[in-house]
Amino acid sequence: YGDYDFIVVSNRLPVDRVADNGSDDGDTWRRSPGGLVTALAPVMAKADGAWVGWHGAPDETLDPFDHDNMHLRPVPLSDSEVELYYEGFSNATLWPLYHDVIAPPEFHRTWWDSYRTVNRRFAEAAAEVAAEGATVWVQDYQLQLVPQLLRKARPDLKIGFFNHIPFPPLEIFAQLPWRRDIIAGLLGADLIGFQRPSDTANFLRCVRRFAGHSVRQQQVHVTDEDGNSYVSRAEAFPISIDVDQITELAHREDIIERSKQIRRELGNPKVILLGVDRLDYTKGISHRLKAYGELLEDGRITVEDASLIQVASPSRERVEQYRLLREEVEGTVGRINGTYDTMGNTAIRYLHHSYPVEEMVALYLASDVMLVTALRDGMNLVAKEYVAARTENSGALVLSEFAGAADQLRQAVLVNPHDIDRLKDAIVSAINMQPREAQRRMRLMRRQVLQNDVERWSQNFLNALRLEGEGEHQ
Ligand code: G6P
Repeated sequence: YGDYDFIVVSNRLPVDRVADNGSDDGDTWRRSPGGLVTALAPVMAKADGAWVGWHGAPDETLDPFDHDNMHLRPVPLSDSEVELYYEGFSNATLWPLYHDVIAPPEFHRTWWDSYRTVNRRFAEAAAEVAAEGATVWVQDYQLQLVPQLLRKARPDLKIGFFNHIPFPPLEIFAQLPWRRDIIAGLLGADLIGFQRPSDTANFLRCVRRFAGHSVRQQQVHVTDEDGNSYVSRAEAFPISIDVDQITELAHREDIIERSKQIRRELGNPKVILLGVDRLDYTKGISHRLKAYGELLEDGRITVEDASLIQVASPSRERVEQYRLLREEVEGTVGRINGTYDTMGNTAIRYLHHSYPVEEMVALYLASDVMLVTALRDGMNLVAKEYVAARTENSGALVLSEFAGAADQLRQAVLVNPHDIDRLKDAIVSAINMQPREAQRRMRLMRRQVLQNDVERWSQNFLNALRLEGEGEHQ
């Protein structure tokens, strides 16, 4: 047995390597942005925690090290595993399959073999560091086989799993040649968390169909190959953001000043529209650009009225569908700007970069209307960050009903992004919304987000996990 009582397992470790800083202590690491590590770092510090994950560099083995009061256990991936397990099975099979087949998923047996091999490696690493009776929390679609592998190797552990992306309807999941293996992999967990109740329902339907266990309410009565029986439970735990961090930044003088500078640099348009996404085909960036371009064409808005900032952060650039998307988006941006830009005003300020959270908050403060038009999204934390940053209750959010966040942010202008005419109307109504009405909506949304931050999310999940198997749900 290992030494650690609380272990998080995710594809990526929660740190980034800082480029050589000239010091003698070799590599240095910085905590990566994102709510998950913020939520879990305090739990880790209290409970002798360890984090198991890939350190991001192909073909490199690293010794375990401590950082930020956490023990980090790097899992190596070879060049070919990055290609087959990460870019292939995770991001060209599961990702499109779980996001409503917006792009066609590819099924390759070599990718699946690599996914199994790598999942086994993650499970072994977790089993090595876990103390007797430890709690292990496995994250996301890249590691769906880990719960079952861990339970076999270490029946003493308490195992949780959280899926950050949607879980698809049975009719789509059924396409996966390895559907039974994935279901069995997940059912190794005592508690399986999803973003939305609809994801939970999809999963339970797949369990009934492909695993044949009895399902009562949200509990699955599992009997494994070796004849062991136990209960695994599925439930929705909508994730959130680090509200304190965003609020603090939104009050910082230099960031407020920077937000004003952004407006000036754009030529002080009456209204700034903002889109912030990883450059991913699930985000509906093309639909958003189409709606905006048509509004300019129809003359319902002009570039002096409303300018769009689109941040598209680089992502999974070696995967073909991502390359194709980049070409398409950049072609569309070029056409719209070529047609509608004036010397003094730009239609779309397109930024293919990732920015630190400080700059993101300045952008949230600088913008009047946030556009989240995902075609499918597990949650969409950008929507919640925008709401948290609007400390004066101004601004409007146009939000796709296909993002998990739509369950919580009911006062957004909710849209079906496939319906371009309605999307155009939604953008115009957000631009023209009376300040009182905008305030009313933003206040209600802010209340929701402020009361449900990511720390509360992790506490809810871990409390529910603790109760599993202790009779409360029997
Ligand atoms: C989504 C997934 C995460 C993933 C992130 C960035 O949010 O749910 O698991 O880490 O995208 O993608 P990447 O492939 O760069 O890790």
